[in-house]
Formats: sequence, structure tokens, C-alpha cells
Amino acid sequence: MGSSSGRHSCVVGLQWGDEGKGKVVDFLAAGADVVVRYQGGANAGHTVKVGAKEYVFHQIPSGILQEGKACVIGNGVVLSPRALIEELDQLVESGLDRERNVWISERAHVVLPYHQALDAARERTETGGKIGTTLRGIGPCYTDKSSRLGIRMVDFVDPDRFRRLLERNVAIKNRELELFYGAPGVDLEAVWSEYSAYADRLRPRVRDITEFLYDADDAGATILFEGAQGALLDLDLGTYPYVTSSNTSFLGIGAGTGFSPRRVGTVYGIIKAYATRVGEGPFPSELETAAGDRLREAGGEFGATTGRARRCGWLDIVALRHTIRDGDVDALVITKLDVLDSLESIQVAVAYRRGAEAVERFPTLLDDEYKPVLRAFPGWKASTSACRSFEELPAAAREYLQFIATATGRPIAMVSVGKERSQTIPLDPWLVPRAKSGE
Ligand code: GDP
Ligand code: IMO
Ligand code: MG
Repeated sequence: MGSSSGRHSCVVGLQWGDEGKGKVVDFLAAGADVVVRYQGGANAGHTVKVGAKEYVFHQIPSGILQEGKACVIGNGVVLSPRALIEELDQLVESGLDRERNVWISERAHVVLPYHQALDAARERTETGGKIGTTLRGIGPCYTDKSSRLGIRMVDFVDPDRFRRLLERNVAIKNRELELFYGAPGVDLEAVWSEYSAYADRLRPRVRDITEFLYDADDAGATILFEGAQGALLDLDLGTYPYVTSSNTSFLGIGAGTGFSPRRVGTVYGIIKAYATRVGEGPFPSELETAAGDRLREAGGEFGATTGRARRCGWLDIVALRHTIRDGDVDALVITKLDVLDSLESIQVAVAYRRGAEAVERFPTLLDDEYKPVLRAFPGWKASTSACRSFEELPAAAREYLQFIATATGRPIAMVSVGKERSQTIPLDPWLVPRAKSGE
């Protein structure tokens, strides 16, 4: 099959999230008909700036601002109806009534208040191993899915089924909250009345998404898949246990939509020109110094979902090689290049060292003993925010981009130099890796 395969594409983060996926999806959505979220939930915060207005999407695909796009929430998403309705209402307040563009998989699992209560209780206990989650109930909801206790959208919009499953689950979860964590349980009737109203509102939006995507494909539509989080937070490929509970890479599309990833053409891997991480977990190239504070200030690195200050550091080539190969990435998009504009010197982790041992391969058990081997590049000390072509970028910035392409072995398809749609530079032709000397 696969005659459609060149048409569809996918945007994924290659670091620890917040690479600027929302901005890139908004840009690419102009050329798509359908935009699909396939994993994660309201833990995501995807920012899109259009004119004077900044929107943050948690569950609605970031293609929603482009007119007439079908925005699909796949079965791999754990959906908070409360957060979704808040998002839809905020769009209406901004003058955009787009509810009829949104479609939700009947197989998506529903995040309920007991999931959030369990997330918070687990994060508070000393023996629980704090992850620094977004407290959106993501881990507990995926746990219920895997242990076959979950409530799916198809159950949620059927009042009798929802009532029966909710009664059963509240009884189980309240015992866990009270007896194990010493935390208050949730009130069954309060949850029932609040969430029944959400079910009534969302019922017309729920359908078989796999069928919808195959039909769209057959009809010649172009589909854009939007990853949330980043590959280093992937449940399997990431820095476990300091990860989220879903498969964030391109490989998550099959399980998260039922649509075959063999039919997806280009996989765009989004890389911020430096690195950030929110929450706990190893971060070898982290800057716990004034230099890190400068990056945080210049990049506005505060969480779009929780407002937490993001940890900042240098680009990490060891980690990127891992997420690019294991996530089958075709081309790169480098964002936030402008954040480096004022630096004298820019560093990059090109390898790790563990004691005396040099390490080039990303370790499965990354711990604090891995230290970065840094290579310095001269800064360009000029503003890039008005540049609209590769040639207009300062020579040192072009050299930095060329280094990233060569070190990762992937071409760069696009560069972003600011929040605005216009501050996006598609590279034509793509910037390809430089042949190594002697080859
Ligand atoms: P996402 O989760 O990957 O969608 O990224 P976030 O929205 O959480 O964080 C990215 C932040 O950087 C947002 O505030 C964007 O508006 C902003 N941003 C995206 N691209 C650029 C860029 O090229 N330059 C600057 N300065 N900001 C950018
Ligand atoms: P976007 O899509 C950055 C992090 C949390 C925590 C870990 C587990 O905006 O890039 P969870 O609530 O998922 O159980 O938290 O994952 N995390 C993110 N960090 N960007 C995100 O999403 C994230 N979603 C989850 O901070 O370390
Ligand atoms: Mg984000």
C-alpha cells in the first residue's frame, strides 16, 4: 500500500518537551486537512502565538487556529473532559467557536478526579519516588488503562455504563487514597453530576477515529500527527522512571490512533537550540549557574501547564542521536535560535564522561555520574529575529546549525527565530549534514 505515505507527516519533540511543537504544528497545519494528537493528555502545554494573542493548548491539537482543520484526539490520549471543555470555552472567548472541528476517539480513556488525587498523593509520599509530574492524573489514568479498570469515552457517554463503572472505580480508588495514602477520597455524587454534564456536551464529538483517519486517507486528505512531550520523556525510550506514561515518539502513532505509521511520510523532530527539562530526573548538560538563569530569562522558560521554572542547559548530541535513531526521525526543526543571540559562546555536549571512561552511547541507566564533554562554539552576538532566510542568518549561527545537522546525521528542514508565525524559516533546500573529511 502506502501510496499516500509521502503526504502525511508527524511532529515530535526530541528532548524533554517544550521544544516548540505547538508553533511548528500551527505552521505545518496550514498545509494539512487533519491534525491528530495520539498520546499524552492535559500534561502537555503547546503555545501558539498569532498576532497579539498567545494560546496554550493542552489537549486540542495545535492546528485548531488554522481555519477548517479537523482536529482529532486519538485513542492513545488520556482525556480530561473538564480540561477540554475549559479549552473549548477559552477559544470561544477569543472569538473562535471551533467545537465542531474537534473529534474524540471513543477508545480514549477518561481522566477523572480520582486520577488527579492519586497523582498528587503519590508525589507527596516519600517512598513513592517523586517524579515532579504535572499533577494532571496522567500516570494513574494510564495505569487504569493497562490494568483494565479504565473508563473509555464510549463508556463515558453512555449514562448507565458510566454510572456503573464510576461507582466501582470510586469505591476502589477511595480505599487506595484513604488507606494507603491517608488522603481524602473523592465524592461520588459530585463527580457524577459534574462529569455527566461534560458527557452530554462531548457526546456528539465522539466517534471511531481509526475509521475517520483511514477514510480521510482514502479521500486524499493530508494528515499531520502532533506528538506531545519529548522522546526523552517516552515511557520506553526515555530516562525511566523520570518519564511520562506514554510513547511520545513517532512509534506511538500506531498504538495511539490505530492508523498505520507505515502510511506516514516525513517525521519532523523538533529540537530547541539548547535544552530544558521540567521536573525531576537526570540532565547531564544542565547549567545550574547564572548561565542557566540567563537562558531561562531569554527563552521565557517557565512551564506552559504548571508555570514551573524549567531547568536549562546546553544541547546534548548524545541524547539527540539516541532519540533520532530510535524515533526514526527524517528531518529536524531547530527552534528558539534567537534565544542564543546575545551569548559570547555556545556550548554543546558532544559526549559524556563517567569517571575516566568516555561514553558516546546514550546509557539506559543515566545517572548523575555522567558528565558532559562540552565543545564551544563562538556566539554570533546579533539579532536573528528579523532573519527570513538561511543566508540572512549570521555566519556563526549558520555554522552552529551546520554542526547540528552533521553531528546528528539529519537534515534541517526549518529554523525558528521567534514566537510569531512569520519568524519561521523553511529551508529550501534542506540543510544537509556535511560529509566527514576523508569519506
Ligand atoms: P511545546 O510544548 O513543544 O509546544 O512548547 P511550549 O509551548 O511549551 O514552549 C515553547 C515556548 O517557546 C512557547 O512559549 C513558544 O511561544 C516559544 N517559542 C517557540 N518557538 C520560538 C522561537 O523560535 N523563539 C522564541 N523566542 N520563542 C519560541
Ligand atoms: P509538552 O507537550 C515538558 C514531564 C513532567 C514530569 C514528567 C511526568 O508541553 O512538551 P506527567 O504529568 O506526564 O506524569 O509528568 O513529564 N512533562 C513534561 N515536561 N513538557 C511537557 O509537555 C510535559 N509533559 C509532562 O514535568 O517531569
Ligand atoms: Mg509545552
